[in-house]
Amino acid sequence: MEKIKIEKNTVQETLIIPLYGRKMCSERFPELYTDIFAERLCERLDYDFSELEKKKKSFFYEFGALEAAMRQLDIIWEIKEYLKEYPKATIVNLGCGLDETGKACDNGLCQIVNIDFPDVISVREQLICKHERERNIACDLNDYSWMDRVDGSKGVIFFAAGVFYYFKKDEVKSLVLELSKRYSGGCLVFDSGGKLALKLMLSTVVKNMGIDDVSGYFYVNNPAKDLHWSKNIKVSSKGYMLGYYDMKSPGIHFLHRLLARMADRLMKMSVHKMLFK
Ligand SMILES: C[S@@+](CC[C@H](N)C(=O)[O-])C[C@H]1O[C@@H](n2cnc3c(N)ncnc32)[C@H](O)[C@@H]1O
Repeated sequence: MEKIKIEKNTVQETLIIPLYGRKMCSERFPELYTDIFAERLCERLDYDFSELEKKKKSFFYEFGALEAAMRQLDIIWEIKEYLKEYPKATIVNLGCGLDETGKACDNGLCQIVNIDFPDVISVREQLICKHERERNIACDLNDYSWMDRVDGSKGVIFFAAGVFYYFKKDEVKSLVLELSKRYSGGCLVFDSGGKLALKLMLSTVVKNMGIDDVSGYFYVNNPAKDLHWSKNIKVSSKGYMLGYYDMKSPGIHFLHRLLARMADRLMKMSVHKMLFK
């Protein structure tokens, strides 16, 4: 079968990190998390996984895989909660990469929309079959014309997993304000880290992308202060690693949980939910 190429050193390449993390986590901690799509997708990509394979057994790398899985579990939890109230809602995966969270939450009634840059959507279309209530939109998220194509009349939940780290602070704020203006009753879920986490991530995981100075980029040290953008937005935040699940699962070492606590407390890794009034 023909393999699909992913270019190195691009923002798009960053989709590999969580995808590979989800594959690894499914293999290593199946009781905690399984992503039935991730392994098959990795096999179909023309991408040099050797660097990642080499690090696979290291404790810290294993922790990175847990981060990818916990984030998805947290987001799935929030989407399922929202669908209880709005079963016909649209689930919108912002910066979707090759993630299939929308399908994992499908209740048979909702609509699913996946948005990413055109080259990512082109890879996605070659690899992933859409079902009848699912659509892909190729667009830069900062070009709000994509919103004209997303119907929120029966409820809408947007989520951005691992995406806003590559955005400037002002870009996130302006995107959020635009969403809140257009989608009353809608919800947005996304993850963030504090300044320290962002520095660490950009200097290690994505060091080849040419981002040296994190100062203009989006991080959240204090959600109540940093995300207080409008009285029409109700914000709640939880720990990214341990805010939703206690991670007490076979194969998870207490050191994993200790590191998880440090990630949430020191690195200020969080998942935020914004409800648009
Ligand atoms: C770290 S990956 C995460 C992918 C996916 N959410 C996941 O969890 O597997 C970041 C994704 O955001 C996309 N992205 C970043 N900036 C974007 C923008 N301005 N417009 C559209 N997509 C963007 C990238 O192309 C990439 O697919």
